[in-house]
Amino acid sequence: MTAAQPPLRLGIIGIGVGATQILPMIEAAPEIDLVAAADINPRVREAFAARYPEARVYDSAEGLCADQNVEAVWVATPNDFHAEHTVLAANAGKHVVSEKPMALNMKEAEAMVEAAERNGVKLLCGHTLGFSPPMMAMRRIINSGELGPLQVINNWTYTDWMLQPRQPEELDEARGGGVLYRQGPHQFDTARLLGGGLVRTVRGTTGKWWPQRAGVGYYSAFLEFEDGVTASIVNNGYGYAMTAELVPWGNDRGLVEKYTGEERIGVRRALNEGTRDEFAAKDRLRIGSEHERRNWRERPKERSPWVPTNMGILIATCERGDIRQSKFGLYVYRDDGVEDRDLGDTQYRAGSEDLMELFNAVRNGAPVYHDGAWGMATLEVITAVMESSRNRKEVRLTHQVAMPLEYDA
Ligand SMILES: NC(=O)c1ccc[n+]([C@@H]2O[C@H](COP(=O)([O-])OP(=O)(O)OC[C@H]3O[C@@H](n4cnc5c(N)ncnc54)[C@H](O)[C@@H]3O)[C@@H](O)[C@H]2O)c1
Repeated sequence: MTAAQPPLRLGIIGIGVGATQILPMIEAAPEIDLVAAADINPRVREAFAARYPEARVYDSAEGLCADQNVEAVWVATPNDFHAEHTVLAANAGKHVVSEKPMALNMKEAEAMVEAAERNGVKLLCGHTLGFSPPMMAMRRIINSGELGPLQVINNWTYTDWMLQPRQPEELDEARGGGVLYRQGPHQFDTARLLGGGLVRTVRGTTGKWWPQRAGVGYYSAFLEFEDGVTASIVNNGYGYAMTAELVPWGNDRGLVEKYTGEERIGVRRALNEGTRDEFAAKDRLRIGSEHERRNWRERPKERSPWVPTNMGILIATCERGDIRQSKFGLYVYRDDGVEDRDLGDTQYRAGSEDLMELFNAVRNGAPVYHDGAWGMATLEVITAVMESSRNRKEVRLTHQVAMPLEYDA
């Protein structure tokens, strides 16, 4: 037996809503020691310092990256800072997990990969629902061959992403805003994981239909993989019809704030009239808030059923059957009937798989499966949807990589 490896000393840049979600997983992981955080918002710095008195707190990414005690950095700043902060951290000799999307464009992503390679550090592209238990289990069933070869993926997501509290950069396409940059990584990472990784072509469309919320609120994409498997992927964030309503045990609640259909009417009105204080509304979701306590720090005593959220409803069609999410697992449809395969726990534990992958890579020399090349390939799909929408043409991809079969086998 080998002696236990020392924990990985982690710092977080950007203690926003995304980072707030991963804190409980970090606390629960003996492999990770949270030693520092940086943010430009004094309110979240204070809340972080009060909760983690042993950790160091910085008001800039540069300050945190100069901290010799930090070995690895989780970059959770807004999308337009992912490349800058990843390169900064890599140049300071830190391993990096970048939030989704990895970057705004392929040039930025290349610079991130190059910085990690040059400095001999690991780069992992994290926090997508490809790491969620149902999607990982679906991949295992597909790869087991029990239903024959995969043929088609259909994935529909209807949410109220556009109605959630948003900072200006979250709705500005030039800064990585809108549902394509923000939600595309969940859907395209998962489709690539299920389909093996190698997307050949993309035809896509995007929609910006609400002047008061000027970002991309809709996309659809048709992907064809090298082996002929196809994927049809839809995301509508405008918050009218909801995929959460489409399962018998579902409800009309939306994403983070969990607005009901009735509440969405009032939210839409306030946004049209410009009366909501967006900064205050967003800050009420970050560390130290009542929202955080209720949604991220309290674990329900009984396991809660899966209801479609950011990933929506996904059906994988193989030659001799289908697979889709069920209340506590997956429905597996075969010639002899349908089985509801219980997975025990379907809850997505944001950050836990990603951080273990990084820990195993740094401490045990294991591969980083969701590395820079993997992240770039998912980003290439996203930027291809934009290009295809603009030019009304199919786009041929050139940066695709496969997910090795041994990953999570
Ligand atoms: N909102 C979610 O539910 C969610 C979930 C998963 C991942 N994410 C990802 O997390 C990232 C941030 O989104 P968010 O919703 O948490 O936004 P957010 O605004 O809540 O978080 C960003 C944080 O970064 C800080 N920040 C901004 N510029 C900075 C700088 N230059 N240096 C240091 N700190 C800086 C902000 O003050 C803020 O606290 C995005 O990439 C997003 O895709 C968000």
